[in-house]
Amino acid sequence: MAKRDLLGTEGMTSDEIVAILDSAEAFREIAERPVKKVPTLRGKTVVNLFFESSTRTRTSFEVAGKWLSADVINVSGAGSSVSKGETLLDMARTLDAMSPDCIVIRHQASGVPQWIARHSNASVVNAGDGAHEHPTQALSDAFTIQQHKGRFAGLKVAIVGDILHSRVARSNVHVLTALGSNVWLCAPPTLIPPAVEALAGSGGACLRVTHSMDEAVADADVVMMLRVQFERMNESFFPSTREYARLFGLTPQRVRRARPDVAVMHPGPINRGIEIDDTVADAPCSLILDQVASGVAVRMAVLYRLMAGA
Ligand code: CP
Repeated sequence: MAKRDLLGTEGMTSDEIVAILDSAEAFREIAERPVKKVPTLRGKTVVNLFFESSTRTRTSFEVAGKWLSADVINVSGAGSSVSKGETLLDMARTLDAMSPDCIVIRHQASGVPQWIARHSNASVVNAGDGAHEHPTQALSDAFTIQQHKGRFAGLKVAIVGDILHSRVARSNVHVLTALGSNVWLCAPPTLIPPAVEALAGSGGACLRVTHSMDEAVADADVVMMLRVQFERMNESFFPSTREYARLFGLTPQRVRRARPDVAVMHPGPINRGIEIDDTVADAPCSLILDQVASGVAVRMAVLYRLMAGA
């Protein structure tokens, strides 16, 4: 049987997305059990290979694998022999020689998970590659929306912030438009890729671009804030952090422009006081910690579907 990978959400059909969300729904209750362990992936080996910092993704893949009884091995880029000069190809072949069933990889360069997938017999999961894709975060976000809204079709979802550097935004656009939501992207012109502006301007499916935060959040069902990725900025994209927060930060006043039952989301980590006020991040309408919990259920679903079969 050909191995299966999860490298991105671009091109995924709504049926494929719904199948993963349905599996996540089945796994969700394991978090509430006194003994959080099922034998589903006993005898399988998962390698978590992270070349970039992570709290949520790395931990939730480890928790997901362990709750499914897989053996999970964590390798950080800094602690691997790549830091001694080994090439990625040699590293991929070395790991492959140990016959893992799945490699979960995060890398600062776009395309690395796709490349590893071509050189490995293991299933490969993209845990975030550069500014390209972060498929399991988008699926976790969709699962969170499903839990709280019960539907996707017709929802207005505003994604606000550093779209240019955001792999989360890219993956979410693919998932949410495939499920029928109306996605509004909002950022300063310097933080929106021109190709996205052109796609939205051409009447692309359910996708709009605005540079006005007030327009983006007006009557929104979901407002998803994005972190300003200062670590990926080697030039100035806006005049000052204070100016950015004033024009694009989510404040209680702006939340009031959205629907009364608006869900506020953020994939984390958060720059408190820059893209989102403390009072909003910690308000009852904030689903930020629900997104983290969803991440475990969705990653269990992904590991299960790749390794144990659909
Ligand atoms: N959302 C997300 O990818 O968070 P981490 O960088 O902590 O994994």
